[in-house]
Amino acid sequence: MATLFDTRTKERRETFRDFFGVEEDEEFTEESLERLLQFEDLMLKYRSAIREVTTKLEVLNDELSVSREHNPISSIHSRVKRPYSIAEKLRRNHLPVSVESVQANLNDVAGIRVICSFINDIYDIADMLLAQDDIRLVTRKDYIKNPKPGGYRSLHLIVEVPVFFSTGKEPVRVEVQIRTVAMDFWASLEHQIRYKNDSPEVKAIAEELRVCADTIAATDVKMQELKLRIEAKTKIP
Ligand code: GTP
Ligand code: MG
Repeated sequence: MATLFDTRTKERRETFRDFFGVEEDEEFTEESLERLLQFEDLMLKYRSAIREVTTKLEVLNDELSVSREHNPISSIHSRVKRPYSIAEKLRRNHLPVSVESVQANLNDVAGIRVICSFINDIYDIADMLLAQDDIRLVTRKDYIKNPKPGGYRSLHLIVEVPVFFSTGKEPVRVEVQIRTVAMDFWASLEHQIRYKNDSPEVKAIAEELRVCADTIAATDVKMQELKLRIEAKTKIP
């Protein structure tokens, strides 16, 4: 049975190998251990920031489910990027692979995906989160009003949230992707079948995928419209 210690050792091996490029049989130096601790410290900050933002979203969902009698959020998923993906993204952008560089250059090490029921819920949740005075908006990309050429739709926010430690507070960045169940359905299947290749067949498939995205988007709009009509009918005069 794996113990907590084994898990930690496995994670540290992964970080050494995938982030610092240290070989399995290489000896650890004081310096490499120090850098490992800095990396772990940074990942702890990202995990804490995810907890803070997730709690804010859960509180908003609870409040709205009472006041509006429907749950705007159907689920919340989060992840901290793996050491390998962090290093790979830095390399791809010709940036140094170091702890300082992660902090200075990457906005999506901490990621939260919020799956909403209806399109209006996305904007309500985003507005209410951004109205909180300890949340700072860094960037906002609306791929719902301006879908990506491939058909991808989602509202992307990069936010900064203060995380409190014994040593003081520190702003930490989190990427929040907010989308409907339908947009998420498309994005997760598209992610699985995406194929980077320029052959005519792949181009044709990409075009069909975009058509699927448009069909799904039209259904989202229709569902929102039906909900508003039902609400108008059942409103107590
Ligand atoms: P990344 O380097 O991928 O983080 O891109 P970026 O910094 O330009 O940000 P962007 O807003 O384009 O995308 C960020 C994230 O959104 C990606 O990492 C994916 O999770 C998601 N995403 C963006 N485009 C697509 C897409 O076409 N399909 C799917 N399935 N996901 C996408
Ligand atoms: Mg990303």
